[in-house]
Amino acid sequence: MKLLVTGGTGYIGSHTAVLLMQAGHEVVLWDNLSNSSARVVDRMAMILRERPLLVIGDVRDRAALDALFAHQGFDAVIHFAGLKAVGESVERPLLYYEHNVQGTLTLLQAMAAAGVRLFVFSSSATVYGDPASVPIREDFPRAATNPYGRSKIIVEDILADLITADPTWRIARLRYFNPVGAHESGLIGEDPRGTPSNLMPYICQVAVGRRPQLRVFGDDYETPDGTGVRDYIHVVDLAAGHVQALDYLVGKAGLLTVNLGTGRGYSVRDLIASFARAAGRPIPYVIEPRRPGDIATCYADAQAAQRLLGFRALRDLDRMCADAWRWQQQNPHGYDG
Ligand code: NAD
Ligand code: UD1
Repeated sequence: MKLLVTGGTGYIGSHTAVLLMQAGHEVVLWDNLSNSSARVVDRMAMILRERPLLVIGDVRDRAALDALFAHQGFDAVIHFAGLKAVGESVERPLLYYEHNVQGTLTLLQAMAAAGVRLFVFSSSATVYGDPASVPIREDFPRAATNPYGRSKIIVEDILADLITADPTWRIARLRYFNPVGAHESGLIGEDPRGTPSNLMPYICQVAVGRRPQLRVFGDDYETPDGTGVRDYIHVVDLAAGHVQALDYLVGKAGLLTVNLGTGRGYSVRDLIASFARAAGRPIPYVIEPRRPGDIATCYADAQAAQRLLGFRALRDLDRMCADAWRWQQQNPHGYDG
């Protein structure tokens, strides 16, 4: 198939585009480079021995999208483009709704006008808010605790309305748990701008000497060791889930909603220990108060993805840390370092 991958130079988009091309699809990347580097494409070309086309553009730009669709004749769109920093979304809600909701709406309108009706959307486990129990199933109630999460819920609802109005659409709402790690080549990986707010990139920067120590946000949660528990999933496993979701939608019109996680939870201390083994050095840390808005435990019931897509996360925590470390060591200052 010929695929448009929005946000295709970003962390998850770049890994997914590599797997999509390796599965035989033709890929065009569409990104405004607000949170990524065009150099990602050189790295992808080194892995693939083939260069994906990058078109610099914004999903809020209807005229540019119309021109792109008229030119390219896409079969489907995989939509990663958007803003994802929870704290920033609280400070700048209108910006988040503009990129994540209006941007997605504009993209869907351009697709509808061009007659492209296969869409894969990056949703998040954040739509579950603070779940009443774990593991989290797809039919659990959704509740946003911040504008970022609400933007994901709003788009999920727009997509459901679209299918109701026109059942010939084929739409996947993929709810990612905590994507970490990097491609095994060490050529592409996560390269956050500024201070990382997520755990794994922060640990990576401590290990490589860019930051003195990790701050562990709370050790008094009701978890086995007191630190927060999450469902970390290797980004390449997550990317493979997109290839499988696309295959599923080719065979079946309608709405697919699945968790993409491993079904296992690990604590902050587990991650620190696994990373220290991978890097062969200790990760210094201090215990600090809880981070506002954090929950104790979050992990997926991953059975629906397995049943419907044949999805299975293959890479364990040690592999996630080893691959994240290889990327960080080879690129201590990311793509532009
Ligand atoms: P990322 O920031 O690395 O990638 C997003 C890409 O979109 C960036 O390259 C950025 O430049 C681009 N972009 C942003 N706004 C745009 C716009 N208006 N037009 C065109 N391009 C634009 O983030 P990521 O971690 O790869 O996340 C991809 C998607 O997955 C996002 O929608 C995010 O909300 C979702 N998600 C991510 C996580 C996670 O932990 N990383 C978890 C759940 C869901
Ligand atoms: C965060 C977002 C969530 C988003 C997810 C995926 C918040 C409140 N939530 O989730 O909406 O979908 O990322 O990217 O930001 N931790 C530390 N020290 C750090 C960083 C994190 O101890 O420097 C702890 C956290 O308290 C948590 C765990 O590590 O227990 C994971 O944190 P993080 O990587 O930020 O992911 P989430 O909080 O799960």
